Amino acid sequence: PYSFYEEIRSMHPVYKGSFFKYPGWYVTGYQEALTILKDNRFQTRILIPETTKMYEALKNIQSHMMLFKSPPDHGRLRKLVSHTFTPTRIEKYRPFIEKIAINLWNNLKNKKKIDVISDFAFPFASLVIAKIIGVPDNDKHIFREWALNLIQSIDLTRSRRSIVDGNNTTLEMLSYFKDLIKKRRQSPQNDLISELLLQEKEKKLTEEELLGTSVLLVIAGHETTVNLVSNSLYCFLTNPNECHKLIENPSLIESAIEECLRYESPSQMIARIASEDVELNKVQIKKGDHVYVLIGAANRDSKQFSNADVFDITRNPNPHLAFGSGIHFCLGSALARLEAQIAIQTILQNEVNIHLETKEVQWRKLAGFRAMKEMYVHFY
Ligand code: HEM
Repeated sequence: PYSFYEEIRSMHPVYKGSFFKYPGWYVTGYQEALTILKDNRFQTRILIPETTKMYEALKNIQSHMMLFKSPPDHGRLRKLVSHTFTPTRIEKYRPFIEKIAINLWNNLKNKKKIDVISDFAFPFASLVIAKIIGVPDNDKHIFREWALNLIQSIDLTRSRRSIVDGNNTTLEMLSYFKDLIKKRRQSPQNDLISELLLQEKEKKLTEEELLGTSVLLVIAGHETTVNLVSNSLYCFLTNPNECHKLIENPSLIESAIEECLRYESPSQMIARIASEDVELNKVQIKKGDHVYVLIGAANRDSKQFSNADVFDITRNPNPHLAFGSGIHFCLGSALARLEAQIAIQTILQNEVNIHLETKEVQWRKLAGFRAMKEMYVHFY
């Protein structure tokens, strides 16, 4: 997508156009992207604008998620779960996340060839989020299809068919979580769902909001992490010098993952709608206009980042927008960072003879996400 981003950036960093049949402002400039994300006059919006019975479940569940709320409801819902995702709390998960990574990797080591996505990144990310939220391990396999269907249904490349699939997936997820909530009501466990049930009792959130939060966390916490882990490994295997630097100096892992987040951002786009007229960098954005903030482009803006197209694991400072900014800044950023650091350390520490089958990997045809279909590696 990067040459496409450059092309529209060269016309204007806040470009009025229509891509994938969606007219609006396409923002590729870093400063402009940051300004919009920090300005609450640009609000998040439900991503299913059409009102038809066919998409009712999908639309309804989104309306109960913090991601699609504005203050004060947004703050109320976010506060109920934010303590679970603070860096200090997340650090406590380190031993169990390391154990999951090592176990998975040890089972793959003796194979000649694996698909990093389906064999490692996907089971890894699902086991972690399932444990935190309180989804039984045996059920984790259903996440991937759900996540892919839901993501496809909200992406600008979507077809009518994918929205119908997204709606059906939502119905399945709702019935799954209703059932799980029922079980947790009867016998609470040490997990996020049980904790939220206590808050529901105190009338701090409704059952629909509890369902919306569970679905949001499973989807937001899963697919993007799969992509962060696989995109990061892709960055290292296609930039051997940086890979050696990290192997020789493991203390670079934190800044290395920040650079992966900037260089191949798993989320490429954030959608907003203007709630009033706003002037920005000499353009007049009107109330009701759609704004598409291309964070994958902002993260490669050479006005902000020197040698923006170079992968440099020692880059400092690195104020990328991969997790967004402002009130909707990614709630799971500390967890995503830790998971990626552990996954990459586990792989690179244990395996120096790892090679990509081909540099020409197939990327999924999505506008808002940077995701490979598969990523085969050989050991020799
Ligand atoms: C919001 C990216 C992992 C939960 C966001 C946003 C971005 C993002 C860009 C802002 C959306 C917007 O402003 O419209 C990512 C990336 C991840 C990741 C790149 C991994 C590499 C996670 C994880 C969780 C999570 C692991 C949870 C366990 C959330 C939630 C929000 C959010 C709940 C909405 C926050 C709000 O509306 O206040 N994420 N995310 N994310 N993310 Fe993440």
